[in-house]
Amino acid sequence: MTLRLVKPQPGHVEEWRRWRADPVSRRVMQLPGGDLDKWAKRLALALSDLSDRSGESYRWIGEVEGTPVGSVSFHFVDWNHLACEIGYVIAPERRGMGLGRQMVASGLDLGFAGGLERIMAFICTDNAASIRLVEDLGFRREGLLRRHAVIEGERRDHYLHALLKEEWRPAVPRS
Ligand SMILES: CC(C)(COP(=O)(O)OP(=O)(O)OC[C@H]1O[C@@H](n2cnc3c(N)ncnc32)[C@H](O)[C@@H]1OP(=O)(O)O)[C@@H](O)C(=O)NCCC(=O)NCCS
Repeated sequence: MTLRLVKPQPGHVEEWRRWRADPVSRRVMQLPGGDLDKWAKRLALALSDLSDRSGESYRWIGEVEGTPVGSVSFHFVDWNHLACEIGYVIAPERRGMGLGRQMVASGLDLGFAGGLERIMAFICTDNAASIRLVEDLGFRREGLLRRHAVIEGERRDHYLHALLKEEWRPAVPRS
């Protein structure tokens, strides 16, 4: 199964919201509020071209044979320090098949080729799949952020993981 990253389109909004609203995602990431219109605006706000350094948020949709299966994004992009946070989600019915790893690896390829030098992941300490995914791609755990963010009304501990450009070895897809 080969996954490719494409620029988000208005037609991706409902799927994207569905992936983010599923019970597993809600347990590990804060679910933004608002109706579909608001989600559409949020999707439209993110850029996809890293040569345009006017943005703080960049997003791509992962597609397999033309079907959207996930989203990978960079947030709080600081072009002075060439650093950002990464976020990602895979459609619930497509998880555990290697697509998350492929999609995040493709995002890292773009990010480092686009000039970023430090990419961070903030992960709930009980999100085993996400921790496994980033550590498998070479991220190092740099610390424990106690009660870092509020998810479903509860302050949750997070790990901070980061990958530096010089540590990145483009991954060989496994699926
Ligand atoms: C995290 C997520 C993107 C992973 O995507 P995926 O397609 O399921 O992951 P992959 O199939 O590529 O697997 C990646 C690694 O995680 C492991 N893994 C997958 N699901 C797992 C689970 N439920 N528990 C423990 N490990 C798991 C896989 O075995 C694989 O490790 P390996 O390569 O050493 O075998 C997906 O589970 C998801 O969308 N979760 C909800 C949203 C989320 O957590 N986003 C990240 C917030 S920080």
